[in-house]
Amino acid sequence: MKDNMTTKPTLVLGGTGKTGRRVAKRLKARGLPVRIGCRSGEPPFDWEDQSTWAPALDGVGSVYLSYYPDLAVPGAVDTVRSFAEQAVGTGVLRMALLSGRGEPEAERAEQAVRESGADLTILRSTWFMQNFSEDYMLDHVLSGEMRLPAGDVLTPFLDCGDIADVAVAALTEDGHVGQLYELTGPRSLTFAEVAAEIGTAAGREIRYVPVSLEEHAADAAEHGVPPEVVDLLTYLFSEVVDGRNANTTDGVQRALGRPPTDFVDYARATAAKGVWAEASR
Ligand SMILES: NC(=O)c1ccc[n+]([C@@H]2O[C@H](COP(=O)([O-])OP(=O)(O)OC[C@H]3O[C@@H](n4cnc5c(N)ncnc54)[C@H](OP(=O)(O)O)[C@@H]3O)[C@@H](O)[C@H]2O)c1
Repeated sequence: MKDNMTTKPTLVLGGTGKTGRRVAKRLKARGLPVRIGCRSGEPPFDWEDQSTWAPALDGVGSVYLSYYPDLAVPGAVDTVRSFAEQAVGTGVLRMALLSGRGEPEAERAEQAVRESGADLTILRSTWFMQNFSEDYMLDHVLSGEMRLPAGDVLTPFLDCGDIADVAVAALTEDGHVGQLYELTGPRSLTFAEVAAEIGTAAGREIRYVPVSLEEHAADAAEHGVPPEVVDLLTYLFSEVVDGRNANTTDGVQRALGRPPTDFVDYARATAAKGVWAEASR
């Protein structure tokens, strides 16, 4: 481990979110200094307010770079480029970038961060398992009906714990700089199979109901999802969940020397926490 890592904090962007929270926890468990980078962080960090970047970067040696809401939104590539340049300019040596699989805009963001000159590892990740327990699709699961525009497309869902393990390895160990890890889970599932796996683990009936993109957008708007998020979801379901990313990869194995977490293990561990219990609706 580099001296830089043990003395200077790692800025964990999205440090209270699905991957960042897990990255921060693992770094702290190793006794490494961490600074949480988000609007509720100390000091606060806001992607939309560039004046918050310098205080958050002050004295930082490495960065876990998770953009919000998604590298595919307009302006994200330029914002991430500016941030990476500023980070390197203030002394950041190493970065781990969370990227999205099968997204042309995410690949442009990867290139922008590469051009900053940081010692970079790219974590090009497929859809997270935790979307069903810590994000938008939790409400679908709790309603008992996952009404989503995913047809019978296969997706090799990925556990955020695996992403965090790869990020921590990339930030603290030798041998990961310059690597592009394409990360997936160990098997691809349809959304109907996901509903069945979660239903079995949670001990309740959960159905997948395929709907059109238009029906999904109308449902989401009716449930108060902001228009820009509806647009992002429509993009993701039409461009990213269309079968082009159905194959599994060996990224987790390559980075960590162990296989990725299976959906059934994620589902059992999550159900055991009561997240999908009927009473939590
Ligand atoms: N979800 C997936 O399946 C998936 C798959 C592949 C790649 N990705 C990538 O993962 C990244 C993160 O997505 P996610 O869905 O997992 O979200 P997430 O990390 O769970 O998002 C929440 C985090 O972002 C912070 N945040 C929200 N607005 C912010 C702002 N304006 N400035 C700074 N921080 C802000 C939140 O803290 P505060 O509210 O306190 O600011 C919180 O820490 C995206 O770039 C996406 O492309 C996601």
